[in-house]
Amino acid sequence: MLYNRKIVIIGAGHVGTHCAAALSFQNICDEIVFIDKDEVKAKSQAMDLADSVCFLPSAPIIRTGDYRDCEDADIIVISAGVPRLPGQTRLDTLGASIECIKDVVDNLNKTDIKGIIITITNPADIIAYYVRKHTGLPKNRVFGTGTSLDTARTRRTVADLCKVDPHSVIGFAMGEHGDSSMVPFSHLTINGDAYDKFVKEHGDRCIDFSEEKVTECTHMRGMDIINGKGSTEFGIGAALADMAKAVLTNEHRVLPASVLLEGEYGQNNVNAGVPCIIGRNGIEEIIELKLTEEENKLFASSCDVIREHIKLEEK
Ligand code: 2OP
Repeated sequence: MLYNRKIVIIGAGHVGTHCAAALSFQNICDEIVFIDKDEVKAKSQAMDLADSVCFLPSAPIIRTGDYRDCEDADIIVISAGVPRLPGQTRLDTLGASIECIKDVVDNLNKTDIKGIIITITNPADIIAYYVRKHTGLPKNRVFGTGTSLDTARTRRTVADLCKVDPHSVIGFAMGEHGDSSMVPFSHLTINGDAYDKFVKEHGDRCIDFSEEKVTECTHMRGMDIINGKGSTEFGIGAALADMAKAVLTNEHRVLPASVLLEGEYGQNNVNAGVPCIIGRNGIEEIIELKLTEEENKLFASSCDVIREHIKLEEK
């Protein structure tokens, strides 16, 4: 029998369904199973998405199921949670999100999970920490999308300000998936060149560029979108699909992910977005970039923000 690439998505709301759309439109998996308390909504989402498969390069199975489906799933995505209201920070949703995730973890702990868990639910880093801790699974198999979306926003903003394709911009946002994330500009390159060298040599293209603008957009984009349409979905859906592809095709690709730090970057007992090598077994290795003193300070203070809220949740 051909290998069946199966992904379970817990939470069939805006985020979960856009993850499913990105996965199926890019032919990343063969089977997508939604689990949601609102079974009618989940079934409707599955049927609606299944109506698209005739137009796709392949025909993934798209259906609803239950936690028994997690046992032979390669990847379990957790997107269940409460939507952030306009004006709310991601951290403001902690209490309500934990209540929702407790039920998810209780159900997961009744199954024999062999695959990888990728969490999206906000506040992203605290939820990733919570799920790994309370499922007891190893940290390489339970991690979050973390600053993958922040990194995409950073790369696109740099691309826009320098009038180049985002694929030519390599860099990361690190720390909290949120207002305290930081961009290590000392590791930001355009076409393989340090960004400041590129900006200097292509001044005519980069007249609008500034580190402040890049950082501001990375921080504000999510809220701007939520204020305008109530939720974000396309960016995070594509970010999850990209991460799932790295796992399912064993790419050993370097991607930002929210992973438990145990001394890396001088940090302990915290999940934070850092560059990781991702493949079949999830997090294969954490990449420790050599940060400047200022970048280290910014990253450490972002980790402090996350750790404070982890402690809040543990009270
Ligand atoms: C975002 O940044 C809502 O955290 C999500 O788009």
